[in-house]
Amino acid sequence: MYAALTVIGAGGICVGVSNASSARTESTTITSKWVTPGKGVVLPAKASYPNSAGTLGVVHERGPIQTKGHPFFEPLGSNGRACVTCHQPSDAMSLSLDTIRERWEATKGADPLFDPVDGADCPDKPRGKRESHSLLLNHGLIRIAMPWPPKDANGNVIEPEFTLEVVRDPTGCNTSPTYGLNSDNPTVSVYRRPRMAANLRYVTTSFSLSGRFNGKTGEPLAVHPKTGKRVGLPILADARQPTLEAQAAEAAINHMRVHAPLTDEQIEQIVAFESQVYVAQDFHIMAGSLVEKGAPPALGPMALVTGESILPGNNWTNPVFMSFDSWRVAPGETEEQRKFRESVARGYDLFFLRPMWIRDVAWFNSIGMGNPYKRTCAICHSVHLTGNNISPGLMDLGVNNVALGIDMPDLPVFKVTCKQDALPHPYLGREFLTYDPGRALVTGKCIDVGSLVMQQMRGMSARAPFFSNGSAKTIREVVEYYDTRFDMKLTEQEKQDLTNFMSVL
Ligand code: HEC
Ligand code: HEC
Repeated sequence: MYAALTVIGAGGICVGVSNASSARTESTTITSKWVTPGKGVVLPAKASYPNSAGTLGVVHERGPIQTKGHPFFEPLGSNGRACVTCHQPSDAMSLSLDTIRERWEATKGADPLFDPVDGADCPDKPRGKRESHSLLLNHGLIRIAMPWPPKDANGNVIEPEFTLEVVRDPTGCNTSPTYGLNSDNPTVSVYRRPRMAANLRYVTTSFSLSGRFNGKTGEPLAVHPKTGKRVGLPILADARQPTLEAQAAEAAINHMRVHAPLTDEQIEQIVAFESQVYVAQDFHIMAGSLVEKGAPPALGPMALVTGESILPGNNWTNPVFMSFDSWRVAPGETEEQRKFRESVARGYDLFFLRPMWIRDVAWFNSIGMGNPYKRTCAICHSVHLTGNNISPGLMDLGVNNVALGIDMPDLPVFKVTCKQDALPHPYLGREFLTYDPGRALVTGKCIDVGSLVMQQMRGMSARAPFFSNGSAKTIREVVEYYDTRFDMKLTEQEKQDLTNFMSVL
């Protein structure tokens, strides 16, 4: 499967993997790990990129990619950025905090990534100063500027059901006379992590259980202009764009400052590229090869290339990450490796089988499931092989709520006050504090405040930190969050097992 594997090392050095299995002997191309916009390199059909836990495998389903002239890789706008600036192959087509910091050091802050438009805490901050980019450099966050009140797809103003008051503004952007909530162009700035532009066949096929309608809200789903099919709400933290095409057009304007909107042809090329790139960890320093014969079948990028993408995985027919049985009583070259593999297998059991009392999650507990409701991680992380949510997955887990989320003193805080005639948030009522109102910045509804689309769970060792607001610095912190949030009472061993499991995905 991996006959012509290419290991791509940082800084032009081939990173050797000491106990290489026969599957990874033919490393050929050696190039720099950072893909520079406009540089014109050929990305091999199969490559492995180093990360602190091992290597990430990246597969281009239809062969090598010539980046010269390709709209995903060319700086099409006025700030020197391309899509690849924030969606790097080495980082699972997302962007890790480590990489962001390396770019800062390597370019003294001059990389187009740090364009103040959204790569600074606010566009009015002086360029080149570390303090101006604190959210990007400390938490890997990009500024997302949303009009307030919200506008619908036709540009008509939506009368919001709640008011927003800025109660804390460490970045100064929401109170800025030019860019803030009370400026001539009233804007809410929230700060979010870049998401993975890979394995998207699995992400975009998340569907509504009832076909034409959003099974949760009963609202009709948008129709894809090309395929004529209904689309769920699968991408972006707030699902503000329904399709990859619309998302690419928006990204070019907002992140790349293009002079003219992308052409249909450019958009098609971008979406075609995004739809054939698959990523997953393929080697782990403790577990060894994740793609050798006998490895769990869900691991490595080829599992995603060949896998079926429309399967709900919260059942015994198509378990989310298939089976880790081959590692349950694991073979291994060393005792250490054997133990780690067994820990991973136990971690998957916890993920798939360990029930917890899930409580106070709007658009989950509130839609007839009961509150609390005893289920496992897989009830929400349900798409076969990627672990995102199968239904229009918006829900409010609580990560952006000041009381329920991980403390983020650097983020702005908004006080939400819902109008008396509005349906209140089911668990937070009519008055509460949030770092990011999420979906409600699109719909204007009180009931949607804090609701988010979850990400897929692949490539996690290549793209920390986690959660849309970057509040979990490590995989372990994600586990700690759930242990506290749902009072899981995990033992130290169980926490390690869950962490190890997610580190090989
Ligand atoms: C400055 C960094 C930056 C640039 C440049 C950029 N993106 Fe993104 N991308 C982001 C951020 C941040 C998000 C998450 C936004 C949110 O959740 O609201 C995102 C989300 C996405 C997603 C959604 C994935 C998912 O599962 O939800 C796709 C697809 C994507 N970007 C593709 C692109 C394309 C195509 C381009 C070029 C036209 C591009 N991006 C340019 C930062 C960037
Ligand atoms: C009630 C539904 C629900 C349950 C149960 C649940 N999650 Fe999540 N999970 C979410 C939502 C919603 C998000 C998105 C949060 C965000 O992006 O800010 C998320 C995000 C994540 C992420 C972050 C992904 C990323 O790339 O940033 C990981 C990892 C994760 N969950 C693992 C787990 C594990 C492990 C369990 C079981 C202990 C679990 N989840 C249980 C709903 C759930």
